[in-house]
Amino acid sequence: MQQTRGRFSSRIGFVLAAAGSAVGLGNIWGFPTQAASNGGAAFLLVYLALAFCLAYPVLMTELVIGRYARGNPITALTAVSSNALSRALAPIIGGFGILVASLILSFYCIVGGWMMSHFLAELTCLLGFADTAAWLETFSISRSLFFTTVFMLLTIRIISQGVESGIERWSTRLMPLLLAMLVLLTLYVLTMDGAMEGLRVYLIPDFSRALSPSLIIKALGSAFFSLSLGVGTMLIYGSYIDDRESLPRLGTQVTIIDISIAVLAGFLILPAMYVALHNGVEIFAANGALISEDTLIFTVLPALFDKIGLAGGVVGTFFFLLMSIAALTSSISMLEVPVATAVEKSSMQRKLASYAVGGLILLISITIIMNFEQLFGATIAFTTRYSQPLLGMLICIYVAWVWHRGEVLQQLQKGSPDIETSAFWRIWPGYIKYVCPLVILIIFVQSF
Ligand code: PFF
Repeated sequence: MQQTRGRFSSRIGFVLAAAGSAVGLGNIWGFPTQAASNGGAAFLLVYLALAFCLAYPVLMTELVIGRYARGNPITALTAVSSNALSRALAPIIGGFGILVASLILSFYCIVGGWMMSHFLAELTCLLGFADTAAWLETFSISRSLFFTTVFMLLTIRIISQGVESGIERWSTRLMPLLLAMLVLLTLYVLTMDGAMEGLRVYLIPDFSRALSPSLIIKALGSAFFSLSLGVGTMLIYGSYIDDRESLPRLGTQVTIIDISIAVLAGFLILPAMYVALHNGVEIFAANGALISEDTLIFTVLPALFDKIGLAGGVVGTFFFLLMSIAALTSSISMLEVPVATAVEKSSMQRKLASYAVGGLILLISITIIMNFEQLFGATIAFTTRYSQPLLGMLICIYVAWVWHRGEVLQQLQKGSPDIETSAFWRIWPGYIKYVCPLVILIIFVQSF
């Protein structure tokens, strides 16, 4: 098995692939809109604290267990099991993670498809094909079916090419492009009238709103979703890291990139909303609160791009291209979880496994589209609000309570020989043993 497994060929390859997984719709869409409605900079501070104090330690558990076992979540949890009970539960927990990754992908592909159709809507509008643009911009089952399928096929194609020539190659191409587009768009939007008002809302903290328990719970959930935790993506990516690399260092780099992009996206989205307001587009609901997240992206921003003419069309095209790329580098990491498992557990070729598993998940997406009202929100809540934190907690328990501490240390010493005397090793083991499971348990109970 060792020889047929893929590897990231370089450190930067891993960092960009893992950052590609982490940076997605959660950062560029979820974080800024939540910050906008929940105390601006105060929410930002809570999010930063939670990402470093809770999400980063959990990310480390996935990386360390993945690289040790060099296998899918089921194999990995079984490999670190030290008694009959943990061995018996490992396939159930690992299997549930794989199922949740697949379900996240099933709704993520639908949203990724919308991003692509809006990208083409802006482009066709620029080129003067107004009728086509109107179809592309309007919500319909046929549009969702078509673009979900296209988005899934792109995801399958990249995954079928393997770790180095699929995931790593495409992440190293797309992530710098994403960053460049994000910076340029932000700089442009900041020059527009109304942008400073958005900046003010983003940067002036309102602690009365950011410190409410319900909001802290929300921020925790979004930090987990944002770092792709609990469902085995980081575990699988960890299993492709070379033994010479330092895991704490890689984990820190991925966390910093993920958070920086979320923060940077806030400098784009908040000012863009207020530029829209300045141009006569309504951004507040009747109750005075900011309008909901989906409406923001799919109505407010296109309306803004329309209002500012040719420049708006160009900005809009780049904006939705940026969103599509961010979604794609995340969706490949989700598909990798069930595909790697299928390849490792059967003698299936990677290409066949990618198309078979991707095809099955596409069927789930189609079922969601056909029963949108009942299934879309429910799938998101089930996977991201309940399952991700619960699975994250279970992985912490496996690393801190089930696995032998000496083996954890040995694994971490690969690539970081001095780790035993570092602050990381003094804090992290106790932290994932007590603090993380307890805090996650509290969030989990609260979320009911
Ligand atoms: N981290 C991604 C985002 O912020 O959009 C979402 C995600 C990717 C969640 C991969 C879970 C996952 F396994």
